[in-house]
This record gives sequence, C-alpha cells and structure tokens, in this order.
Amino acid sequence: MLSQRALQVQPSPTLALSAKAREMKQQGIDVLAFTAGEPDFDTPDFAKAAAIEAIHAGYTKYTATPGIPELREAISEKFWRDNHLRYSPDQIVVSCGAKHSIFNALMALVDPGDEVIIPSPCWVSYPEQVKLMGGVPVIAPTEESNDFAPYYDAIRELITPRTKVLMLNSPCNPTGAVYSRQTLKEIAALAIKHNFWVIADEIYEKLIYEGHSHTSIAALGSEIYERVITINGLSKSHAMTGWRIGYAAAPLKVAKAMICLQDQMTSNACSIAQYAALGALQGPAEWYDTMRQRFDARRKRMVEGLNQVPGIRCWTPLGAFYAFANVEGLKERSIDGFDFSDGDGVSAYLLEKARIAVVPGSGFCAPGYIRWSYATSEAIIEAGMDRLKSVFSS
Ligand SMILES: Cc1ncc(COP(=O)(O)O)c(C=O)c1O
Repeated sequence: MLSQRALQVQPSPTLALSAKAREMKQQGIDVLAFTAGEPDFDTPDFAKAAAIEAIHAGYTKYTATPGIPELREAISEKFWRDNHLRYSPDQIVVSCGAKHSIFNALMALVDPGDEVIIPSPCWVSYPEQVKLMGGVPVIAPTEESNDFAPYYDAIRELITPRTKVLMLNSPCNPTGAVYSRQTLKEIAALAIKHNFWVIADEIYEKLIYEGHSHTSIAALGSEIYERVITINGLSKSHAMTGWRIGYAAAPLKVAKAMICLQDQMTSNACSIAQYAALGALQGPAEWYDTMRQRFDARRKRMVEGLNQVPGIRCWTPLGAFYAFANVEGLKERSIDGFDFSDGDGVSAYLLEKARIAVVPGSGFCAPGYIRWSYATSEAIIEAGMDRLKSVFSS
C-alpha cells in the first residue's frame, strides 16, 4: 500500500498539459501550445560558457550542500544590488530549482496541522507541497477587480493560532499581478503582529511591465526581514529551467535547517549548473531588458486578441508571462456539445477543435479562468489568436 502522502498528492496539471501538447506535436498534430511555464529563449551564451569551462576545469564532483561559495557570494551581491536586501552568503541555500527551495522552506517550517495561507489564484505546487508536509492550505481568494492583490481583511480573518506561513508570489503565476509596496506593508504588519512566516517567491522578479517595480517584502524593515524566506532562481530570469538552480535566503537558523534537510535529501544542486548560474549572475544586465521587451510586446498582443472574443475577458497582467483570461462569459454558450461552464470545458474544446493547448484555471484554484502563456513566438501567438477567434465565431 502506498503512503497516504503519495496517495493524496495531485500531479501538476501544467506539466501534464505541456507533456500532452508535446506528445500531440510528436504525432504530427498541428498544436499551438500556450502551456509553457518557461521562457522560449535560449539560455544566454555567457551562462553556457561558464558551464563548459566548469566541465573542462573538472568541477564535476560534489560541492558543499548549500552551493559553491562563489555562487552564494554572487547571490548575496545580487540581493543587495537588486533588492536592497542584506543576506550574507551563509544565509543562502542553493537548490535544484526554486520549486525545491520552496519545498525545503516548507519542510523547515511546517508541522502537521499547521496552516499555510495562500492567496489564490495561486501556483499549482503551493497547496500540494503544503499537504505533503501534513499542513493545511488555507486559500485566500483575490479578485480581478482588486488587481488580484491579497486583501488585508480577508487574510486577517483567516489567521488562527495554527497559522504558520503565508505564501507570497509577486509577480504572480498565474495572474500576472504585481503587489504594491502598500499591499506588502500590510501583509508584513500582519506577519509581525500574528507571528507567522512569509515565503516570498520572487522568481518572476525580472519580468515586470508598464513601469511597475518589484518590492521584496523582506526589505521592508528588520522585523519583517526576520520572518521572511526569499525565494528566487535562474529558471525564468535567464531561461535556465532545465539547469535546475533555485535559491532561498533566510534568517540564519532557517537557512541552517534547510541545509540540514537538503543534506539528507539531495545534497548539492548540480555542480556544473551552479557554475552556469554564477556565469549568468555575473553576465550583462541588458539580457533582462531584451527578454522583457519581447515579452511585453507579446503580452499586449495576446491580451488584445483574447479580449476580442465575446465572452472572454482578460485582465492586463503586469508581470510574469501569462495572460489569465476569465471565461465565465462563455457559460451560456455551448458548441458541439462541449460544456463551457468552466475553464476545463473551454480548454477541452480549444484542444479538440482549435488545436490550442492552454491550462485551465482549476489547477490554480480559479475554475472560471484559463491561463495562456505568452512565452512562445510572436507567430504562434498570431496564429493562436486567429484560431481562437474563428472557433468562437462559428
Ligand atoms: C511561481 C513559481 N515559483 C516557482 C517555480 C519553479 O521554478 P524552478 O523551475 O526554478 O523550480 C515556478 C515555475 O513555473 C513558478 O511559476
């Protein structure tokens, strides 16, 4: 008999849908995939070169569990340069992707029965990881009309003596929301008053549009700094999803606990990928601007295209690379017997009739929505918007 843990965990719907779209393409079916959770750009040459150099230099053995000292130093400098955050290298833990960093953080903090507040729509893995710890995910809904920002009052009402952690994700996957300094200040005040931790997942930090800027909640004062685990990584900032490098920065006692847990689970992240990450962090900052500008143009085109379909309403995302479209306006319609009562039905219709793969909002605790990734070429976005229009105009 499998463990209760294994029996209760749900597979990631985003990974499953990406795999399905890939499989259909391999069968020669002309699928337009908008499922990607990764930049479609190539990893920059300066990161690749650092990896190749590391191989030739023989850096192919175990490293210290929390990462090579040069990388922890470079991450510490990055936090100061980009986020006004002082983390010493010994407060930094490098792991196999930000997903692993979040897992380590939850493992270090959450006991069975502890509650973890998760503003939603939320990234698919947060509730599942909390459940794997024996914790209780407590969903705090946010709304489009409030720019998908967490409500102070809604969160306050959910706080109980068992509240241990609040998950924050700005810029947010799937909504594209970017939380204001004021929102973060309010959350920080709650965390301090009610004595809970904040895990701040800042993986999309470099992808923010329309002149908005990123604020790290840990930088809002020394009291909140002591309660935050800041998560980041190279996957989205440097198109390095396959290299699997993420990192966490935390108060020393939490960092030490995370290192100890990682010691027993995976040891260090791949040595070669760590050198690639070092090369990436030391590379030119213009890389981000070029990528952001491309994403920005696609973002505008996609939002425009989605809003042209009667029954679909798409809020303009301010960060990340997803358009999160509300499809509740399609509820009254039904084409070829497909049920449009939620995003699942609409997504099934799109795959079957338009050969468009998207991710239904149910996996993000938002069944009335569909997530469209614009981390794909301009040509595919154009073709996708044309197909979308034509299947709904029929
Ligand atoms: C919000 C969020 N956090 C973390 C991750 C995981 O990143 P990594 O590939 O570094 O594990 C993702 C990936 O899609 C994400 O969307």
